[in-house]
Amino acid sequence: MLKTNADLLLAAQQGGYAVGAFNTNNLEITHAIMGAAQDRRAPVIVATSAGALKYAGIGFLSQIVLTYAHQAAVPVALHLDHGPNFASCMDCIRHGYSSVMIDASKLPFDENVAATRQVVEAAHAVGVSVEAELGRLVGIEDHVVVSEREVAMTNPDEAAEFVRQTGIDALAVAIGNAHGFYKGDPQLDFDRLRAIRERVDIPLVLHGASGIPDHDIRTAISLGICKINIDTEVRDAFARAVRQFLAKHPDEIDPRPILKPTIQAMQTVVARKIELFGSAGRG
Ligand code: 13P
Repeated sequence: MLKTNADLLLAAQQGGYAVGAFNTNNLEITHAIMGAAQDRRAPVIVATSAGALKYAGIGFLSQIVLTYAHQAAVPVALHLDHGPNFASCMDCIRHGYSSVMIDASKLPFDENVAATRQVVEAAHAVGVSVEAELGRLVGIEDHVVVSEREVAMTNPDEAAEFVRQTGIDALAVAIGNAHGFYKGDPQLDFDRLRAIRERVDIPLVLHGASGIPDHDIRTAISLGICKINIDTEVRDAFARAVRQFLAKHPDEIDPRPILKPTIQAMQTVVARKIELFGSAGRG
C-alpha cells in the first residue's frame, strides 16, 4: 500500500528503528527493492533522484513503483530524492509521489527556508510529506581541512530554527556523511547528531549510508535517525553481477539472463540493510 514518508517515519521513530530508502532508476532495481521489502515484511521508501527521472522518464518510473506499491502488503512510499526546485517537486506530486525532498541546502539559510516552505505549503495541501536538508553533504576528501568540514555540517541550533520555520516532516543532516563510497573510514560526528536530536523532534535522515559500518548505523539509529538512504552499494551489486555473468557467458546477448542475476544480487544487499536497520517485520 502507498504511504507517505511521514507515516513510515513516525512509526519508525516510535519503534526505534529506521526505514531504508533505496534509489531506483529502472525495473530491475525496483524488483530487487520490493522483493526484499516483501520478503522481510518491511516498510520501504523507493527513491528516485532527478537524474533517475531524466534517465527513465517520470511517467515510466513512477508507474513501475506505484504498480508495486498498490499491490504490496507492506507500506511503500514513493519519494523524490534531492529535488532541485519547486517545479520538480510539483511534477512528482502530479505523478503520484507520496513524498518529496526539496534540497536547497546549497543556498544561504533564509533562502533554504523560503524554498523549503514553498514546497511544504503546496505538498501538505495534498497530503504529501516533505524532507529537506540543512548543512551540505560534500564528497569529504582526506585533504579537506576540519574547518571546511565544520562549515558543511548541520548546526544544531539552526536545525531547530529551520524545522520551526519550514514545517518539514523529516530533516536530512550532514554529520560527516557523504555520497558514494568513503575513502577510508567515515568519521560521523555523533555528538553533533545528539545535539540535533535534543533540539529537533521530527524524524532525522542519514544520506550517504553506503559504506558506513554496521555499528555506526546502529549508533545513528539510537540517536534518532529514522530514514537511511542507500544507493551506491546497490549499484555496486548490480555492476558486479553483470561483470560476473558476462565473464562466464561472453556470447550472451539476451538482456534477460544477463539482468536476472543482478536482481538477486541487489535484493541480497537491500535485505541485509533492512535487517540492519531493524525494519524487518514492521510492515
Ligand atoms: P549512497 O550512494 O552513499 O548510498 O547515498 C545514497 C543517498 O544518500 C541518496 O540520497
